[in-house]
Amino acid sequence: MCGIVAYVGHHDAFPILIKGLQRLEYRGYDSAGVAMLSNGEINLYKKKGKVSDLLEFTKDKDVTGNIGIGHTRWATHGPPNDVNAHPHFSENKKLAIIHNGIIENYASLKAELIKRGHHFESETDTEVLIHLIEDIQEKTGKDLFEAVRIALGEVIGAYAIVILSKDDPHTLIAAKKSSPMVIGIGEDDFYIASDATPIIEYTKNVVYLEDEEIARIDLKDGLKLKTIKNEKIEPYIQELELQLEAIEKGGYDHFMLKEIYEQPRSVQDCMRGRLNIRKGTVALGGIKDYENKILNANRIIIVACGTSWHAGLVGEYLFEDLARIPVEVEYASEFRYRNPIINENDVVIAISQSGETADTIAALELAKSKGATILGVCNVVGSTISRITDAGVYTHAGPEIGVASTKAFTAQVTVLCLMALRLGHLKGVINESDFHRLLIELSSVPEKIENVLENAEYIKEVSAKYKDVSNFLYLGRGYNFPVALEGALKLKEISYIHAEGYPAAEMKHGPIALIDEDMPVIVIATKKGNYEKVVSNIQEVKARNGKVIAIVTKGDETVKKMADYVIEIPEIVEPWSPLLTVIPLQLVSYYIAVMRGCNVDQPRNLAKSVTVE
Ligand code: F6R
Repeated sequence: MCGIVAYVGHHDAFPILIKGLQRLEYRGYDSAGVAMLSNGEINLYKKKGKVSDLLEFTKDKDVTGNIGIGHTRWATHGPPNDVNAHPHFSENKKLAIIHNGIIENYASLKAELIKRGHHFESETDTEVLIHLIEDIQEKTGKDLFEAVRIALGEVIGAYAIVILSKDDPHTLIAAKKSSPMVIGIGEDDFYIASDATPIIEYTKNVVYLEDEEIARIDLKDGLKLKTIKNEKIEPYIQELELQLEAIEKGGYDHFMLKEIYEQPRSVQDCMRGRLNIRKGTVALGGIKDYENKILNANRIIIVACGTSWHAGLVGEYLFEDLARIPVEVEYASEFRYRNPIINENDVVIAISQSGETADTIAALELAKSKGATILGVCNVVGSTISRITDAGVYTHAGPEIGVASTKAFTAQVTVLCLMALRLGHLKGVINESDFHRLLIELSSVPEKIENVLENAEYIKEVSAKYKDVSNFLYLGRGYNFPVALEGALKLKEISYIHAEGYPAAEMKHGPIALIDEDMPVIVIATKKGNYEKVVSNIQEVKARNGKVIAIVTKGDETVKKMADYVIEIPEIVEPWSPLLTVIPLQLVSYYIAVMRGCNVDQPRNLAKSVTVE
């Protein structure tokens, strides 16, 4: 949530900031702003809307300067407007700040500062923080770095901040707690950003700031780090593995479509080096030392949000069915506040694409405090969740830029398939011949996803028939019940059509009342997995004049006769079927959203990385 970017060096800062903000726009797009220091003046420009609106606004403005900060906002405190947009000035306008996170005690700090003569223009918590820093500077006579350090000791909440000072054309001060921040070290310049995407084309050498660390980034003195408690830290420089092509659209109209089409490769990447057909093995190096712990656990608790929670639900079916380990799947936001019973015999697995979701992090911290083993399934390497967990498995899907999660979901499910297969085999629940059959079937998934994608034109035609409806129902059973939920979520978040996912048999306990000729129902009716029962559910819908779009196994003639449209997927064993059945649902939501003129990659009110609770 919110993207921050900053630069200090010898190049023009403005184009670097703008390009960086465009890369970070997936993190929020309520407003955008920049501030550059030039000839002793801070020129600060900010605008409600997208980075493109800011660009338009700055067309005839002075945007010179070799040092600057930029921000793209997802509103928390105060509505999205020009005033609440970042950067924010301090009282004397000598300091400007950008901030990602929430200062929870901002109201009491603000009241105190108002008493001390401060005036506030915006409703944001961020403006309070920069006034506090300036106030401390003036009160104590300390330099900016020290004032920031003292101020951060007084605030409660989450932050990734960068501060620009009118008095110092060579220095930026940055700090972070519970919001991500990475510093790129160029040949003779520095880049700061919420993630590595704005940095990658300039340098591969980066330092990931840890929680409660403050950085002084100085063109002459280089990078100096301290903790809030005033301990000196040696920066640990890492090499980025990210490739520039991975964060560009590569000829596709939208990132979402590119990411849907990347799935044969991302699922393959996720299995690479882990699944070995020749040797007949599955190996997950990241959790090797924890396999016994998982096998002997009382239960596995999966915590996640949104699409990652849906992947967790598939995980429940996988672990219980293939490895006979009891599983509970929890919304991280509920788990953290409901005083759950957890102990050291529980294994808690967090699933998160970003690795930065605030509720998921808090759920993990709670589980850790109760002595549970905590594991992570994350996509973003070096993310908070990957660092705070005891161990974990990366999904290796590559950067996901589209706000609607697609390839991250299939990579998460692939990791869970690998884990369940490995654990079930180790435990002796899966015998040798079934293990080999499942192994071979899993390795065929990338090619089968490719087959589903070849059908995209037909899926687009079917989508066109329903682009104007107001409601959709998604039904699935067993392994494909979570896929029904995921299909409904994809549709609502990018096309703004109301959609609900249900276990097919639950329909007659209520939702069947909604069925009429205007209600399209997408039914996942692949062979095996309660097939006959799902066929009965389709008949129930048809008997009430509902429109049925069925996802079926190739060659299915029975459902074809009943449904209005069928979308075929290749045959696959049931536990791996969510990896195929979800693909047409992603495409349906994509095409419908495009046909309705929606902003597919940046749906309203959403942000990619939900770093606030
Ligand atoms: C939906 C979507 C969200 C995320 C959720 C969790 O398409 O992307 O529902 O799945 O915000 O995010 P992560 O996986 O980063 O923890």
